[in-house]
Amino acid sequence: MFLELKNLKKHFGEGDSRVDVLNGIELEMEKGEFCVLLGPSGSGKSTLLNIVGGIDRASEGSIVIAGEQTQGMNEKQLTMYRRKHLGYVFQMYNLIPNLTVQENIEVGAYLSEHPLPVEEIMTTLGLYDQRKKLPNQLSGGQQQRCAIGRAIVKNPDILLCDEPTGALDYNTSKEILKLIETVNQKYGNTVLMVTHNDAIRLMADRVLRLRDGRIRDNIKNTEKKRAEELEW
Ligand SMILES: Nc1ncnc2c1ncn2[C@@H]1O[C@H](COP(=O)(O)OP(=O)(O)OP(=O)(O)O)[C@@H](O)[C@H]1O
Ligand SMILES: [Mg+2]
Repeated sequence: MFLELKNLKKHFGEGDSRVDVLNGIELEMEKGEFCVLLGPSGSGKSTLLNIVGGIDRASEGSIVIAGEQTQGMNEKQLTMYRRKHLGYVFQMYNLIPNLTVQENIEVGAYLSEHPLPVEEIMTTLGLYDQRKKLPNQLSGGQQQRCAIGRAIVKNPDILLCDEPTGALDYNTSKEILKLIETVNQKYGNTVLMVTHNDAIRLMADRVLRLRDGRIRDNIKNTEKKRAEELEW
């Protein structure tokens, strides 16, 4: 198994202000699997993604990626873990404002031992003609494509996406979903994507639902749809 979460727990605060967010997450994902994570607002989806992404730490439990345990790692090891294994796409693009499209993507490449060719990525994402522009000269969809480029140029084992289409309209959202699908198929990255959009579950290999700090549903999709076929 490529990714294994065992009895993962997370609380914030202590005493009277303690909030238990994750209460024992059990999850296994295979290499190349495309998983969609659904759940109500405040159910802990971003918290879970941040823990898998090495941005935050679990209170209890273990994460094993490609045989590597993250729980006992110090800050430096965790940074190396993030560089080696992870690409992250957020709802709000988080691009560096004074770098061009190409330079933003190169930042991702710089952090990797085995980056993909930047020009190829820009072409796949339809950004080649925009490569010299700054983020504020791009549409929301173009900015999100650039953020996907920055995450994917590392050729990460795992691509984490937190509502990557949350700030986008219908057509642009579909375009972004098609790109994530293409990237998943072309480069074989394992994808864990959080969304509020129930229709997106149809394009996943596996659909997870988070509620009360636990994974309540874990369903393998036998007949998944292409991003292009989705409607909402
Ligand atoms: N740093 C923090 N300190 C205290 N509480 C936090 C912190 N981060 C998250 N929480 C709490 O943990 C719970 C889960 O938050 P999280 O952001 O993971 O939810 P979510 O499922 O991503 O929600 P949404 O769909 O609205 O993005 C919430 O009750 C939130 O208030
Ligand atoms: Mg969230």
